Amino acid sequence: MNQNSSHPSSMAILISGRGSNMCVLADKIASGELPANISFVGADREKAQGLEAARIRGLATRVFSYEELGRERAENNLIQALLESGSTWVVLAGFMKILSARFVAEFGGRIVNIHPSLLPAFPGVDAIGQALKYGVKVTGVTVHLVDRKVDHGPILAQQAVSITDGMDQESLEQNIHAVEHDLYWRTLKNLFEGRYVEYGRRRQLHE
Ligand code: GRF
Repeated sequence: MNQNSSHPSSMAILISGRGSNMCVLADKIASGELPANISFVGADREKAQGLEAARIRGLATRVFSYEELGRERAENNLIQALLESGSTWVVLAGFMKILSARFVAEFGGRIVNIHPSLLPAFPGVDAIGQALKYGVKVTGVTVHLVDRKVDHGPILAQQAVSITDGMDQESLEQNIHAVEHDLYWRTLKNLFEGRYVEYGRRRQLHE
């Protein structure tokens, strides 16, 4: 799985929403900072706002409508598209569908996710709201490989974000997203360039 810059890693990016992380990844590839290419941007619904941003950037887009097709058929189509595209990596960027055991078995070790908390704290939906409601003083961002449990798997990178007194959800979201937009592409670059070493559960960077 070691990659080198003469053979850029090919990644499919999966989104459900606005796709701001996907846009940063696309822009970092365009600027030459992230040695990779995007096979396609996939969404679970046509209404995902990020699809338009992907099209504007000239990226191939695919929709796998879970609502119209049902989960099994939609995911089968997604697996087929990933296999046909020869994608090395499946990069989740706000993809709101749970991946089946079959999906994880097919692409095991090659699926990456970003989550807006310091996992294992606050998995699942609205991690930012959960952290605020709980009253923690520090939350953050996690980039991890995906295993069969939700928001779970070997952690590649984490960065803390402080919650100051009186902070509202909007400003915490802004701070979290700013960290995500810097952390995701840097982590993927390290991953694609083969800089992570496996020590049991742990993934450590070596320079
Ligand atoms: C991010 O906060 C990410 O951590 C979570 O979903 C959100 C996606 O945001 N998994 P965007 O669609 O990339 O703007």
